[in-house]
Amino acid sequence: MKSKAILIVALAVMGCSRDSWQRMPGPDDAVAAVPWFSTMRKTIAIKPYEMPLMPVEGTVPITGAEVSLSLTNPADLPAINALMNPVASTSESLERGRDRFEIYCALCHGMEGAGDGPVNAAMFGAAPALTTDNARSYSDGYLYTMVKSARGGLMPAHGDKIRGDDRWHVVNYVRALQGAAQ
Ligand code: HEC
Repeated sequence: MKSKAILIVALAVMGCSRDSWQRMPGPDDAVAAVPWFSTMRKTIAIKPYEMPLMPVEGTVPITGAEVSLSLTNPADLPAINALMNPVASTSESLERGRDRFEIYCALCHGMEGAGDGPVNAAMFGAAPALTTDNARSYSDGYLYTMVKSARGGLMPAHGDKIRGDDRWHVVNYVRALQGAAQ
């Protein structure tokens, strides 16, 4: 008699959710079966990029303070162009740069930087090729700042996603793409 009652309770609990029939019900299933008990089964899911948490104002990375120069401020241009690329264009640097470029840049600028990324069509071709004479003529510091902060156009800033030397690796990789496209 008693075992019959236990079986009925177990069946009632097991019938509650799609995945619970695949495994033995545990105490958590019993709690979840009661609608007004709170469990962690129903939580608010936050999708990537839905609610990016920006670093607090004034946050300094452990690698030291960052230069804050803006491409939208003409007075900053000389300092931007004077930025020295501290990362040699070694095969390791290019490999890292390619990895970051294909994640963050290729969607708009294309895998070879030809401006043919899949997202660019939806942007009516606003993202230019990075292999043009114009793009070649930019200094490394200009490209670095473009990656970090962009320049107020349709291109988003990537400073919060591509950090530290990774930005220079991306610059080195863009240079390699420009060389390859020559
Ligand atoms: C969402 C699409 C998008 C992504 C992602 C993107 N860009 Fe851009 N990029 C643009 C657009 C649009 C422009 C032109 C308008 C502007 O200045 O914002 C541009 C302009 C540029 C320019 C200037 C080109 C010129 O001829 O003046 C460079 C350099 C550049 N991007 C590099 C990059 C790099 C490197 C990455 C990856 C870190 C990247 N972009 C990611 C859309 C994008």
